[in-house]
Amino acid sequence: MGKHLQNILQKAGLLDVAQKAFLKWMTVKAEAELLFVLPLLNKSGVLRRFYFAFFSSTFSAEMRQYINGRFIYLQRSKGPVFNESLLRRNIHRLEKGIMAEERKKVFGLDFIRETVGQFSASVAQNASAEVNDWAFDILNEYFNIVDQVPEIEQAYEYFKGVVYFKNNPNQSKLPYVKSHPHADAFNHFQGLLNVRKSVRSFVPDSIPSRENVEKAVRMASTAPSSCNRQPFRFVVLEDKKSVVAVSNLAGGARSFAEGIPALAIVVGSTSVSPSPGDRHLMYIDGSLASMIFMLALESLGISSCPINWADIKKSERALRKIVALEKFERPVMLIAMGEAAETGLVACSVRKEVSELLKFHVPEK
Ligand SMILES: Cc1cc2nc3c(=O)[nH]c(=O)nc-3n(C[C@H](O)[C@H](O)[C@H](O)COP(=O)(O)O)c2cc1C
Repeated sequence: MGKHLQNILQKAGLLDVAQKAFLKWMTVKAEAELLFVLPLLNKSGVLRRFYFAFFSSTFSAEMRQYINGRFIYLQRSKGPVFNESLLRRNIHRLEKGIMAEERKKVFGLDFIRETVGQFSASVAQNASAEVNDWAFDILNEYFNIVDQVPEIEQAYEYFKGVVYFKNNPNQSKLPYVKSHPHADAFNHFQGLLNVRKSVRSFVPDSIPSRENVEKAVRMASTAPSSCNRQPFRFVVLEDKKSVVAVSNLAGGARSFAEGIPALAIVVGSTSVSPSPGDRHLMYIDGSLASMIFMLALESLGISSCPINWADIKKSERALRKIVALEKFERPVMLIAMGEAAETGLVACSVRKEVSELLKFHVPEK
């Protein structure tokens, strides 16, 4: 029930009755769902489509965002603006081909021309020097090792026509043999995990320095992501008004919103892949990066608390009035940041047992 409606009902002396009726309605609704709505929807795809088309807008924001992401992806792939996600994915696919233990003599035939095209567009637009150096090295290596068949020869001619001088010629971006963690890595990691807790009481105005936030984001960028496309970014709010306003939009932070010194909005994007099956990548990749971000903050002495961003139309509309987001973007979560208050408490939050979390699959014989 909205606050406005609550006020009106209060004035009319009907709030109590209305609240009871609302609770009753919720109970009846839940019972009806359990008895027949959900079992029916579970059984029939046609009914599901009908239900979500006419009776529920649960997935409408997700659908809109998927459509917007796909649109921008296809538009960028066509040019003239290059599609960095496509370039990243294709270069990554070539890397996998190059690294394969039993390397094929010919691979990447179906996307090599497209990749050179994207590289050429990226160079023409002076896009990220790092990405261009990486793409240049991988393409060079690819053309060196594959057998020359007509499609590859054509793509190679195209590649040779792209005038590019590496930004950092002394640094190779080719696959390499990885190093091992040092002997004490596990203990260090465990130590960091043991001190990280969700903090909800902060030293007033303990806004983390931008330098530290940048360091944490650099670490977060090392997170794995699907085809290395990294469909997320961090928008950091430092001014009290915006921090409190946005924190208050997330129900789970209302009790401590006023005391949050700074807030990161982890923003996900559906524009990195045209595939409907990939529509959740922004949550997966965004969350993997967020965890590293919070651990990095912790290692820098900055405490944090992840805050749920529920899929609620009204909240999102309000957020978009404060922070500019693209149509194909939406928040994955919020992260409160600051220095933990000296006497503030953190919850014990008992974890599940390993036996509950882990099962080794034993195939049937
Ligand atoms: C996705 C996500 C959403 C969360 N949302 C909230 C929230 O809205 N409000 C809150 O106080 N804590 C929130 N938390 C923090 C959890 O309550 C907390 O991580 C959990 O209870 C374990 O405690 P710990 O982080 O202190 O170890 C969230 C955590 C995650 C990962």
